[in-house]
Amino acid sequence: MKTSRIALFASALMCSTAFSAQAAELEVIHWWTSGGEQAAVSLLAKEFDANGQDSWRDSAIAGGEQARAVVMQRILGGDAPQAAQFNNSRQFEELAEAGLLLDLSDLAKKEKWRDVVRPKSILDPCEIDGKIYCVPVNIHSDQWLWTNKAIYKEVGLEEPQSWQDVIDQAGKIRDAGYIPLAVGGQGWQEDLTFDDVFMGVGGKELWNKVYVDRDEDAAKSPEVAKVFETYGKLRDLTDEGSAGRNWNDTTSLVINGKAAVQAMGDWARGEFVLAGKKAEVDYGCVPGPSRHPVLTTGGDIFIFPKQDDPEVEAAQLRLASMLLSPDVQVKFNTAKGSSPVRGDVNMASADPCMQKGLALLNDDENIALPKNAILSSDTDGRIQDLVSQFWNTPSMTVADVQDQFAAILQDGS
Ligand code: GAL
Repeated sequence: MKTSRIALFASALMCSTAFSAQAAELEVIHWWTSGGEQAAVSLLAKEFDANGQDSWRDSAIAGGEQARAVVMQRILGGDAPQAAQFNNSRQFEELAEAGLLLDLSDLAKKEKWRDVVRPKSILDPCEIDGKIYCVPVNIHSDQWLWTNKAIYKEVGLEEPQSWQDVIDQAGKIRDAGYIPLAVGGQGWQEDLTFDDVFMGVGGKELWNKVYVDRDEDAAKSPEVAKVFETYGKLRDLTDEGSAGRNWNDTTSLVINGKAAVQAMGDWARGEFVLAGKKAEVDYGCVPGPSRHPVLTTGGDIFIFPKQDDPEVEAAQLRLASMLLSPDVQVKFNTAKGSSPVRGDVNMASADPCMQKGLALLNDDENIALPKNAILSSDTDGRIQDLVSQFWNTPSMTVADVQDQFAAILQDGS
């Protein structure tokens, strides 16, 4: 989505928006359609409905890319929903720059969001030109392996602590009749796995050099070649049903004892919880995998497209406030598998996997920004496409993919 197109529609929209639904009914678009996600989002809807004056109209659209595209089209077409999920990233900055989003700065100031939200990087993407345009609801990290404990026990292996372990253990796991690594063959999942390999094999310093500093030598270095090489070796570890498979159907393979492990963000935990599985008993959660795991602090935010109706605007602000309230933060994040964005809530009830994540997030050394918070949506999308092409084209050489990778990073914003 190009700025110019958004800017063009923005001025027309400001003059023409006419909102006809009930003032306090807010349509909320999100992509939380798996069992675990639905359980978590329904807590938000229930809480909002319970305030006695507003109601949450749920619009769930499968797939993050699809949902975000619909939100963009609806806003540009003059039929904006009242609230929409995006990742905590640069995905929505053009909407804010074009003046299409409700400014939450006064509410943020009143409720001291800058003081309670931690780490600072979680609220940063919401702040554009000094104003706050989104409310972060959770911290999600991509760098986790989700394991089936019974399979590791049966084959007599420890859970992997590195990507090399995942590769080395694959033969034994395959021989015992299990999928060594379940991968969902969709672009964003292939890219997520690549990010995990990058962080596990290359480390945080290399990540920052390549993505934050856009250091061309780093992007072309032997260390990045090693990341691509390792990633390429994982192709043989998955199964024939991988192509196009949803992330949660892939998680089910681990839950149901068909696959040993899946690399997925911590939202996978919601699926295990829903299936009645116990953390560190039935399933394991390995951060990294790496001896010094680093987690990216991504997650979800809500934006509130501008409406030409003060009553709706007031309800949008009530929803924004509710999403950050301490009680909602604890309940929602416990169900979702994410960590709260507030540092002042009591997470004593968190299970051992959440506790591991919370402990890592406590130390800045262990955290990094996700790619989509560093790169523009366009650049991030080009990298994802390239990574997916490499994954699906075993004949593509590491030298070739690495050249293109470095070129996109030099070229893109
Ligand atoms: C991510 C989102 C998570 C999770 C996941 C799979 O983009 O941040 O909340 O739901 O997609 O749907």
